Amino acid sequence: MAYELILLEKIGKTAHITINRPKALNALNVKTMNELQEALAEIRDDAGVGGVIITGAGEKSFVAGADIKELAGQDPVSAKEFSLASQKILGYIEQFPKPIIAAVNGFCLGGGCELAMACHMRVASKNARFGQPEVSLGIMPGNGGTQRLPRLVGKGRALELVLTGNMIDAEEAHRIGLVNRLSAPEALIATAEEILSAIYSKGPVAVKFCIEAVNHGLELTLEEGIQLESNLFGLCFTTEDMKEGTRAFIEKRKPDFKGK
Ligand code: CAA
Repeated sequence: MAYELILLEKIGKTAHITINRPKALNALNVKTMNELQEALAEIRDDAGVGGVIITGAGEKSFVAGADIKELAGQDPVSAKEFSLASQKILGYIEQFPKPIIAAVNGFCLGGGCELAMACHMRVASKNARFGQPEVSLGIMPGNGGTQRLPRLVGKGRALELVLTGNMIDAEEAHRIGLVNRLSAPEALIATAEEILSAIYSKGPVAVKFCIEAVNHGLELTLEEGIQLESNLFGLCFTTEDMKEGTRAFIEKRKPDFKGK
């Protein structure tokens, strides 16, 4: 499928999605969000794709937020619909059954930070800058920022970022747990690939269940989360991957997982 505002390229087992509006610092308008969702739907069941890297075109910006020029024309009803539609797409990313890594180059603000937080992991180049500057516009985060940020970095740090609108640099984002790994700008994609390639050697069904257990478990009580984990753990024992993984260990060889 042809896209206008994103690029989708498959290299080896990785699908690379690039938000491609560098003149607008890759701001997310409705069309970009829709294309992002369509690209993910295109690769979701592609057996050749094991994981995804989402990044922004150019060196200056990952995504500088929702498109403010588009937002400026919204009324209360359309703003709510925009928020709900975007939340749905970010939920789709969060629940995606294959690992998705945000490779953050430059500005990662507002809806950009919210997009990165919906991904399963974040790697950042040392020139990355993170923030939720919506209050500077007289609005608040509308794509999950007030919900995912405290879950990642804790309530106090999240409130400081959301209420001041201040930006933090990549080192600070790494220190507070917003970012998994830091890299030199030229090594950003390779750093994300390094994480993905470690995952590609593992059982794909187990990987999918781990994503589900962590995502859903965070919304449950510990008792319910543990029950969910036990159910998914049991389900692993229905897979060929489980038989192959345990047999390979006993036979002292590398497993050949089929994702079944
Ligand atoms: N929406 C639309 N256009 C944007 C944009 C955005 N979020 N961010 C940058 N741009 C555009 C600018 O308008 C400018 O376009 P023109 O050349 O046509 O004027 C171009 O990108 C380059 O930007 P700047 O000239 O401003 O670049 P800079 O280096 O001086 O500043 C910046 C960079 C600090 C990131 C600044 O652009 C900025 O503050 N951007 C807005 C960040 C922001 O507020 N994001 C939150 C948006 S609201 C949101 O995301 C709500 C939500 O939760 C859903």
